[in-house]
Formats: sequence, structure tokens, C-alpha cells
Amino acid sequence: MRRAIFAGSSAEGRALLARARAIHLAMVSEAGLPILRTVNAVVLDDAIAFHGAPAGEKMEGLDRPVVVSAEETVATIPSWFLDPERACPATTLYVSAQVHGTLREVTDPARKARVLQALMEKYQPEGGHRPIDAEHPLYAKAVRGLLVAEVSLENVDYKEKLGQNRTEADRLTILEKLWQRGEDGDVRAITRVVSRFPELPRPAFLRCAIPGIRLQCWVDEVELVEARALLEDAYWLQDIPAQDHVTAMARSPVRVGARDTSGKLVAFARALSDERRVAWIFDVVVDASLRKTGVGSAIMELLLDHPAVRRARRVRLATRDAMEFYRRKGFCELAEAPRPGAWSSVEMVRTNA
Ligand SMILES: CC(C)(COP(=O)(O)OP(=O)(O)OC[C@H]1O[C@@H](n2cnc3c(N)ncnc32)[C@H](O)[C@@H]1OP(=O)(O)O)[C@@H](O)C(=O)NCCC(=O)NCCS
Repeated sequence: MRRAIFAGSSAEGRALLARARAIHLAMVSEAGLPILRTVNAVVLDDAIAFHGAPAGEKMEGLDRPVVVSAEETVATIPSWFLDPERACPATTLYVSAQVHGTLREVTDPARKARVLQALMEKYQPEGGHRPIDAEHPLYAKAVRGLLVAEVSLENVDYKEKLGQNRTEADRLTILEKLWQRGEDGDVRAITRVVSRFPELPRPAFLRCAIPGIRLQCWVDEVELVEARALLEDAYWLQDIPAQDHVTAMARSPVRVGARDTSGKLVAFARALSDERRVAWIFDVVVDASLRKTGVGSAIMELLLDHPAVRRARRVRLATRDAMEFYRRKGFCELAEAPRPGAWSSVEMVRTNA
């Protein structure tokens, strides 16, 4: 029997708790009343840790059983994706993690300082402060004065509902409909489902005729380092610092890629789009060893079919020498293009210093 909810590993649960911006902490007060709080938290060593005021509510939960939880909605699936009449197929794809344990106060000042520093690194990753050190006069009093508490990660339950209970046909329909709908998070959801079940057939829009090449309709933040490596010699990036470029790529909501059989990222392209008037394509690249084998064409087709690009009336780009490549995908020079309105207009640009 297929199970709707898959119990995953505690490592996946830890990873979810570690990246969650908000964590729920359920406690019981001395009087036996339930308390539920949303808190900032960090995973440090084998515990999830929080801070608070020494007179606050978290004090009440100390040395009692607590539940800590975090969840991510992957996609909301409306019933009409699968059935035009019955409401029953409506569901939500999600991942969630729960920890059962006891809330313990951290009293060792060095450990307290480590938790506080880890909180700073998670929520203020850009730094801009002196690292927290329990001995330093800037921090000694604050470290002593704050409550720091933690729950051991011995009992982590991780659950994911990513459509694994559906038939193959239904799952493919869901993926196709998410690609058609293309609302916030839908494209990322597709990648999540596809990469979670790599053995399952891929939806048509992700199939690639080139042997050994796997297309992906979303490239995650952590994968952008690989994209940057592919673009190392790109002529249009020569004066842009690598980190600034990675940040720019991370701000593009449209990021597609392709991997080879070894799992290496071998192609990448991204776009910005207002989803109505114009989409701009940037950073199209194929690994030098695979050029002229059709990978560039495959990645462009995926990019042009992406909901945010597909919906834009005009798709724009600039190139030094790949005009022929783009002409094959329906592009022409701006001067040759039909005007979007009856009026004549002049393309203008301002160059910032
Ligand atoms: C442009 C690029 C993405 C094309 O990828 P690809 O995998 O080689 O493309 P395909 O195999 O699907 O298509 C190759 C065809 O595109 C054309 N083409 C590719 N690059 C071209 C270029 N720089 N100038 C003119 N035509 C080009 C060729 O005519 C080739 O056809 P051919 O095999 O009949 O000669 C790849 O060459 C690349 O990464 N180049 C370096 C980065 C770059 O210039 N990106 C574009 C920036 S706008």
C-alpha cells in the first residue's frame, strides 16, 4: 500500500529545523495549561536552542516535556487538478519535523554564548557585530542575564507528503498542472517532488532527448555556486565580483539547469520577468565539453516554456555572437521585431556609475 505521508530520516528533520525561520514551541505551564510560542531557534550540535527573557514564558516550560515543530508548505493542490467535480483530491504537499523532548536551561556561559552567536549567524548572516563571547565585557552581562534553553534532538520525526501515495498518472498530472499554473513556489515544488523520487517517470516538460542529460526547472540557492563555476569565463561578467553575481542569480525567480549522469551541473540559464510584458534572459551557458550537442537548445526550450517566461509578451536578451543560436529559438533583432503597440517608441537606458 502506498502511504500518503512518508516518514523520512531524522537528518532531513534536523535540516528542516535548521533552515526554518520560525519554530513552534509547545509547552505546558506549571498550572497544566498549554502554551504555544513561535520562536527563533538554531540547531547546534545535538540540540535545538532558543533564547528569551529570564522572566518570560519559556521559563515556565523548563524541565517539562515540550514539542518543537517546523513545517514547509511545498504546494497547494486544488481538487480540480485531478477531478472536475469532486472536492476530495484537494490536498497540500508539505514537509514537517517534530521534536519531542524536555526543555533544559543552558547554564554554561560558553555554551550560552555559542547559542547566541549561532542565532546571530542564522538571522544576521552578514555579520556586522563582534562575535559573541561570554568573557568579553561587551557581552558578559547580557550572556549571564538571558535565558538560553534547548531541547535534545534525540527524538526527531520527519514527515513528507509529496504525492507518493498517488498513482503515477496522477502524479504526472499534478506536476504538469503545477507547471501550467506556475504560481509562487510551484516550479520549486516540481523540482522537490521530482528529485525526491528520481526513479519515477519525469513529466513531459522535463524530458530531454539527449542521453544522460537531466533537465531541472529550478536551481536552488546552494546550486548557484556550480552555476557560477560554469560562467567563470563568461565575457559579460568579467567586471562583476563572483559573490555579487551569485546574489544576483539568487534574485532571479527563473533558474533552470541540466545535469549529466555524474550529477554535475552542465548547463544553466536564468530570467527575470514581470510575467506579462517582458522577460529578460541572462547567463545562458553550457559546459564547454558539451557544446554543440543540443544541450543549449534543450535548456532554452525549458526556459522559454517556464511559466514566468511563457506568459511574457516579449522575451529579451543581449548577445555578442550567439545570434544564430537564438534565432533558432524564434528570436530576432529588436529592430526587426513587431512593435508591441501602435505607437513608436525609443528604447532608453541609464548607466549607473
Ligand atoms: C551559446 C551556448 C549556450 C549554446 O549551447 P550549445 O549547447 O552549444 O547549443 P546547441 O548544441 O543546442 O546548438 C548549437 C548551435 O547553436 C549555434 N551557436 C552556438 N553558439 C553560438 C555562437 N556563439 N555564435 C553563433 N552560433 C552559435 C551553432 O550554430 C550551433 O549549431 P551547429 O551545431 O549547427 O553549428 C553555448 O555555446 C555556450 O555556453 N557558450 C558560451 C556562453 C555563451 O556565449 N552564452 C550565450 C550568451 S548570450
